[in-house]
Amino acid sequence: MRTTQDILDAQPQLHRDGKGGFTSWTLPKEVLFYIDRMVDDTSVTLETGAGVSTLLFALKGAEHTAIAHHPDEIENVRRYCMTHGISLERVDLINNRSEFALPNLPKIPLDFVLIDGRHAFPSPFVDWYFTVDRLKIGGIMLVDDTNLKTGQILKEFMSVDHRFELVKEFDNTVAFKKLETDITLFEFDRQPWMLVRNAD
Ligand SMILES: C[S@@+](CC[C@H](N)C(=O)[O-])C[C@H]1O[C@@H](n2cnc3c(N)ncnc32)[C@H](O)[C@@H]1O
Repeated sequence: MRTTQDILDAQPQLHRDGKGGFTSWTLPKEVLFYIDRMVDDTSVTLETGAGVSTLLFALKGAEHTAIAHHPDEIENVRRYCMTHGISLERVDLINNRSEFALPNLPKIPLDFVLIDGRHAFPSPFVDWYFTVDRLKIGGIMLVDDTNLKTGQILKEFMSVDHRFELVKEFDNTVAFKKLETDITLFEFDRQPWMLVRNAD
C-alpha cells in the first residue's frame, strides 16, 4: 500500500461492531486527505483513538503515537499494517485509556494532534489538555466529532481564542493552528472563551 487512496480503496475494517464482527469508524475521506497533505516523514504526530487514521500516519512515515482503548483494536491495526506492507517502525501503538497514557508520555514537541478517542465528557478535553502544550507553535490540533457537544465546546473554545487560528473546517471536524505557547497556564479571566461565555 503506497497512497491514501490505496487505503481508502481497501476500506479497512479495524473496529469491532459490538456483534462479533468488524466495522470502521474512520474519519471522512476529505479529512484523511487533509492529514495526507499536512503530514510527512518529518512530522511528529499523536492521535487519541486508532483506525484508518493510524494507517495513514504510518504510511506517511510520521513519528507517530496512537492511543486507543480496546482489547483488540491496536492488534488489528498492527496486523493490517504487517499484511499490507505499511511500516510501523516509527509508530508507537498504545493500548490504554488516553487519560492514563497521555500524562506519562515523554514531552516531545508535536507537529500534529488528532483528537478522536473517547467522545464522552470530559475525555476530549483531557486529551486536549495533555497535548496542547506539547504542540509546537504552528502545529495543528485536529478535533473530530464537532457535531457532539464535547467536540463543539472544544471548537468554540479555540475559535474565540487569539492563541489559535481556525485553518480548516469540515462537516464535523475542525483544524486549528496553535499561535502561542503555554496555552494551559492562563487563568480563567484571561481565557477569551470564559470571558465571552461568562458574559452570556
Ligand atoms: C472514532 S474511533 C477513531 C477512528 C479513527 N480516527 C479512524 O480514522 O479510523 C474512536 C476510537 O477511540 C478509542 N477510544 C475509546 N475510549 C478511549 C479512551 N479512553 N482512550 C483512548 N482511546 C479511546 C476507540 O478504541 C476508537 O479507536
